[in-house]
Amino acid sequence: MSHVFHRSLTQSYPTAVKGDGPYLIDSTGRRYLDASGGAAVSCLGHSDPEVIEAIRNQVGQLAYAHTSFFTTQVMEDLADFLVARAPEGIESVYFVSGGSEAVEAALKLARQYFIEIGQPQRKHLIARRQSYHGNTLGALATGGNEWRRKQFEPLLINVSHVSPCYAYREQKTGETAEAMGMRLAAELEDEILRLGAENVMAFVAEPVVGATLGAVAAVPGYFKRVREVCDRHGILLILDEVMCGMGRTGTLFAAEQEGITADLITIAKGLGAGYQPIGATLVSKKIRDAIAHGSGFFQHGHTYIGHATACAAALAVQQVIESRNLLACVNQLGEGLRTRLLDQLGNHPHVGDIRGRGLFQGIELVADRDSKAPFDPALKLHARLKKAAMAQGLMCYPMGGTVDGQYGDHILLAPPFILEDHHLDEIADKLLSAVDITLKDL
Ligand SMILES: Cc1ncc(COP(=O)(O)O)c(C=O)c1O
Repeated sequence: MSHVFHRSLTQSYPTAVKGDGPYLIDSTGRRYLDASGGAAVSCLGHSDPEVIEAIRNQVGQLAYAHTSFFTTQVMEDLADFLVARAPEGIESVYFVSGGSEAVEAALKLARQYFIEIGQPQRKHLIARRQSYHGNTLGALATGGNEWRRKQFEPLLINVSHVSPCYAYREQKTGETAEAMGMRLAAELEDEILRLGAENVMAFVAEPVVGATLGAVAAVPGYFKRVREVCDRHGILLILDEVMCGMGRTGTLFAAEQEGITADLITIAKGLGAGYQPIGATLVSKKIRDAIAHGSGFFQHGHTYIGHATACAAALAVQQVIESRNLLACVNQLGEGLRTRLLDQLGNHPHVGDIRGRGLFQGIELVADRDSKAPFDPALKLHARLKKAAMAQGLMCYPMGGTVDGQYGDHILLAPPFILEDHHLDEIADKLLSAVDITLKDL
């Protein structure tokens, strides 16, 4: 019996022993094409020599120095790199070790900002249903996925959840996409007014919803209007780009495609591409200045923030993405992936929707295409699919509860940016087999 407290205590896992470009290899020599980058993490695959070398060099020089005693050049360089490329207004970077920590830091920065500027009554958070922002308690409370929240509800802070911008299911008959965006931004404003605008601290949203909806981008104009609503009421906009950021959707920041900036942006996953655990909260000048000219001290911190080896890995990852022009590959490969998914699965009787941006694509499965009726959750279609795909040598990221936290199934694809065309064929072929095998066995 394993002494590891695994994610599932009733399941056994193959032992991963080696990475080879976009493949993971297990102890029996079996190869798995990583079409989900784990969970949208491994954007450079699993064996990038430049990143590995950068990590070796950093460990050889200095593995770690606690940030209450020192800064390090590599942390400074990574912050410079990110700020130079971040949306307008972002001026500094608070480094952490993952996505949930980035969200926690953003929430606390938002709260402290309002204390510093003399508005201590601002404490309410608004987020969206069917979102995921992490599993630590603040991040979990912020997320709007019923299934993830339910048993921990008594421990969670109070957060309002408004509708997600999920056109496949929420766009009304006869309503244009733009009108839907305006309606949902109005719903946000109504909630702000209900809480009392002077009491609201921040609105939190993923520009492209990942784990809980399966690569759902907002309709045109939605985020611009959301930004206006937040500004009108002095509320901070926190964009969670932990999954959709760092090039995944074809631009370094997903917010770029919405034409907006945010007061705080959280990133992780693709930042270090899995070579080291690292996340960050990008902080606007407004918030940094309020704290710098106020108490001068952000009352937060973890032992491993700004870890030098993690920063070295992330800097190397981001430099590789830029020097090899991989964002152009994301757009080109994303088109190729989408074309193949539409060819192979577009007319499938149980595929309701194929959506996404760049190398971030989602496929929603339905029992009936016309009515969009989901499968019975008791079937655990998503879990069966994951197993069937692994048996085909394919890693994808299926998830249940797409519609409301209970009903619905989707598959998320987030492969590395280094694929070749034949990998796209392999993904589409294996995925179709996995879907068909799973549905036949129901
Ligand atoms: C949008 C988003 N935010 C936060 C998180 C939490 O990140 P982590 O699992 O690194 O704590 C995730 C993880 O999937 C995510 O997708």
